Amino acid sequence: MASIGWVLLLFLAQLHTLLSTSIAHRADGGNLTHLPVSFLCHPNQAKALLQLKKSFSFSRSTTRLSSWQNGTDCCLWEGVGCDPSSGHVTILDLNNRRLSTHGLDPALFSLISLQRLDLSMNDIGGGNIRSAGFERFTFLTHLNLSNSGLYGQIPPSISKLVNLLSLDLSTYNIDYSLGFYGPNYYDYYNNLWESSFDTFVANLSNLRELYLDSVDLSNSGEEWGTSLAAYVPQLQILSLADCHLSGPIHKALSRLHSLVVIKLQENFYEPSGRPFPEFFMDFPNLTVLQLSQTNLEGRLPSRPFQSKNLRVLDLSYNMNLSGHVPNFSNASSLETLRLDRTNFVYAIPTPSSNFTSLKELGLNRNLISMDFLSAFGRLESLHQLDLDCFLDNELDHDLDSGSDLGPIFSWIGQHKNLTSLGLFGCNFSGAVGNLTGLQTLEMHDCNTYGSMPSSIGNLTNLRNLYILYGFSGPMPTAIGELTNLRNLYIEGADFSGPMPAAIGELTNLRNMYIQYSGFSGSMPAPIGNLTNLEAMEISGQISGLIPNAIGQLNKLRWLVLQDCNFSGSIPSSIVNLTQLTMLDLSFNSLNGT
Ligand SMILES: *[C@@H]1O[C@H](CO)[C@@H](O)[C@H](O)[C@H]1NC(C)=O
Ligand SMILES: *[C@@H]1O[C@H](CO)[C@@H](O)[C@H](O)[C@H]1NC(C)=O
Ligand SMILES: *[C@@H]1O[C@H](CO)[C@@H](O)[C@H](O)[C@H]1NC(C)=O
Ligand SMILES: *[C@@H]1O[C@H](CO)[C@@H](O)[C@H](O)[C@H]1NC(C)=O
Ligand SMILES: *[C@@H]1O[C@H](CO)[C@@H](O)[C@H](O)[C@H]1NC(C)=O
Ligand SMILES: *[C@@H]1O[C@H](CO)[C@@H](O)[C@H](O)[C@H]1NC(C)=O
Ligand SMILES: *[C@@H]1O[C@H](CO)[C@@H](O)[C@H](O)[C@H]1NC(C)=O
Ligand SMILES: *[C@@H]1O[C@H](CO)[C@@H](O)[C@H](O)[C@H]1NC(C)=O
Ligand SMILES: *[C@@H]1O[C@H](CO)[C@@H](O)[C@H](O)[C@H]1NC(C)=O
Ligand SMILES: *[C@@H]1O[C@H](CO)[C@@H](O)[C@H](O)[C@H]1NC(C)=O
Ligand SMILES: *[C@@H]1O[C@H](CO)[C@@H](O)[C@H](O)[C@H]1NC(C)=O
Ligand SMILES: *[C@@H]1O[C@H](CO)[C@@H](O)[C@H](O)[C@H]1NC(C)=O
Repeated sequence: MASIGWVLLLFLAQLHTLLSTSIAHRADGGNLTHLPVSFLCHPNQAKALLQLKKSFSFSRSTTRLSSWQNGTDCCLWEGVGCDPSSGHVTILDLNNRRLSTHGLDPALFSLISLQRLDLSMNDIGGGNIRSAGFERFTFLTHLNLSNSGLYGQIPPSISKLVNLLSLDLSTYNIDYSLGFYGPNYYDYYNNLWESSFDTFVANLSNLRELYLDSVDLSNSGEEWGTSLAAYVPQLQILSLADCHLSGPIHKALSRLHSLVVIKLQENFYEPSGRPFPEFFMDFPNLTVLQLSQTNLEGRLPSRPFQSKNLRVLDLSYNMNLSGHVPNFSNASSLETLRLDRTNFVYAIPTPSSNFTSLKELGLNRNLISMDFLSAFGRLESLHQLDLDCFLDNELDHDLDSGSDLGPIFSWIGQHKNLTSLGLFGCNFSGAVGNLTGLQTLEMHDCNTYGSMPSSIGNLTNLRNLYILYGFSGPMPTAIGELTNLRNLYIEGADFSGPMPAAIGELTNLRNMYIQYSGFSGSMPAPIGNLTNLEAMEISGQISGLIPNAIGQLNKLRWLVLQDCNFSGSIPSSIVNLTQLTMLDLSFNSLNGT
């Protein structure tokens, strides 16, 4: 047995030599004198990569690029891909490694065979980026520098990459709506601007995907639409969210009828509104149309969207957009429909269509009617619902009685697959306890005159609980049942009495944020049981000593106990919080060191 094994091994070893020699042959056009036989990698490529590695700081990184070793085949290194015939590097993908470097090392620009370069989610910002030599990448088809700490004008050399198919210089739209960044807040964001969008796109005529979200285009004027239409005719994805765009959504854009994804949300803050760009309704392959907060006004045409594949339609926060709710030629493709804070007529035609795939429905800040909701029937796939309880006179509910909004909640309650629910201005007592599948519950201005029902403790699958304003009376101890909770966010609520000690039972909490929410008395000592807590931020009328138990929360990275009434000395146990990157105990009556 053993000898057969040896023979096999020898054979394999010889086979390997044979194979690698033939690869090396191809790799260097016949000159093997200085090439270790088994390498595909071209030596000057390895040299450039090693130089690049040397320029990185690894202090916050998720990798040490330990496979990048001189003397090994660079084509096998982490994130590297080569052309099999030349041994030149064609792919460099270091996405989300959290590497940092002050500007890009010139060695990068000697990898002139690159076709795909992805340095997103690293910190490569720095002064020399503007003069970086991207124009040397004449074969580049994919460039991703999103969230990589770039700032200043977009490097002009990028606009010379005529073969680009996909360009991503975006910053993620971090959801600030809950105001809480905490320790997980991502800090490598681009801070780019471009004052001549027209020049920038003039030679990018092959682009299929353009992502410039959060790039400041405010000095580029109103011609962005005509420039795109003129130069980038094959565009399929256009993502310009939060770019400070101004002017009309120009009719010339109707030429870009291959568009599949259009994201223009959070733009056009000038006082004058603009009509809904009707020609988007005719794009046959449209799957995503994101136009929330774009200051649209006037009536939405009543004819249907032509695309049979529309998945996402978001028209929310266009307060002056009126007409009937949108119409679809194929409602069953729709997965997300957000109409929050619009001025549509919430009457039937559309809802009677067949929303068999709808997962997310946003109707908050609208005066919907119960008839309208009922017309949807049961939405088998619904996972996320945001809804305002100020019904359009249809339901006779008395704010002071704390009635259960029976019809609404029984309609909601049919959707057993709901995992996320946002309620606005709802005054309820028990009904919420039936929604046991919920993982996220957000309540704005709910139960202004009522207490929090203890049936909230039934929602044992909750991971995120957000309470903004509303509620009175003590917080029920049933809150302690929510043992899967990861994030607890309470702001501006009107609770009374102390924070319940039961909060100490939420042992899976990662983030706790309680701002000015009526609580008084001292902080309960069981808070020291929340040993998974990474961020705690509390302000308001909490008094007494900061419990010594706080020193047990040794995963805390963010501790802000600001503007409370804490007194006495800072507990010495705080020295045990060795992970802290943020400690703020200001505006208290503390003494000691
Ligand atoms: C082979 O390598 C030698 C030494 O580096 C070099 O002088 C020669 O030009 C190379 N020949 C080819 C065909 O690349
Ligand atoms: C790689 O190793 C070779 C020989 O061991 C050496 O000459 C060369 O300088 C090294 N390159 C780098 C970038 O360290
Ligand atoms: C760019 O990278 C980010 C982060 O890694 C990723 O989410 C995004 O989809 C990439 N963009 C493109 C166009 O692939
Ligand atoms: C676009 O390409 C043309 C022809 O190669 C060139 O003359 C022009 O300067 C380029 N424009 C930009 C902005 O790079
Ligand atoms: C829409 O998609 C189909 C199938 O991918 C394609 O053949 C057609 O050309 C596209 N239409 C437009 C206008 O891009
Ligand atoms: C809506 O239109 C009214 C009347 O034209 C105007 O006063 C108001 O500012 C507009 N609101 C928004 C958010 O555009
Ligand atoms: C809804 O769609 C399903 C399949 O997607 C279909 O069987 C049904 O007839 C449709 N109902 C209506 C009212 O269009
Ligand atoms: C929940 O989802 C499953 C699969 O998506 C579906 O079969 C079921 O009918 C849904 N349940 C409800 C109550 O909508
Ligand atoms: C909650 O569930 C119970 C039993 O499952 C049911 O009797 C009750 O009507 C439900 N309440 C609402 C408001 O749906
Ligand atoms: C919800 O909680 C209440 C009180 O905590 C309890 O009486 C009730 O049975 C629970 N309802 C469900 C549907 O679990
Ligand atoms: C929680 O904390 C209290 C007081 O600090 C302690 O008595 C109790 O044993 C703790 N409970 C658990 C489950 O750790
Ligand atoms: C810090 O933690 C250690 C070990 O858990 C404990 O012995 C020590 O008393 C703590 N220090 C303070 C000041 O609480």
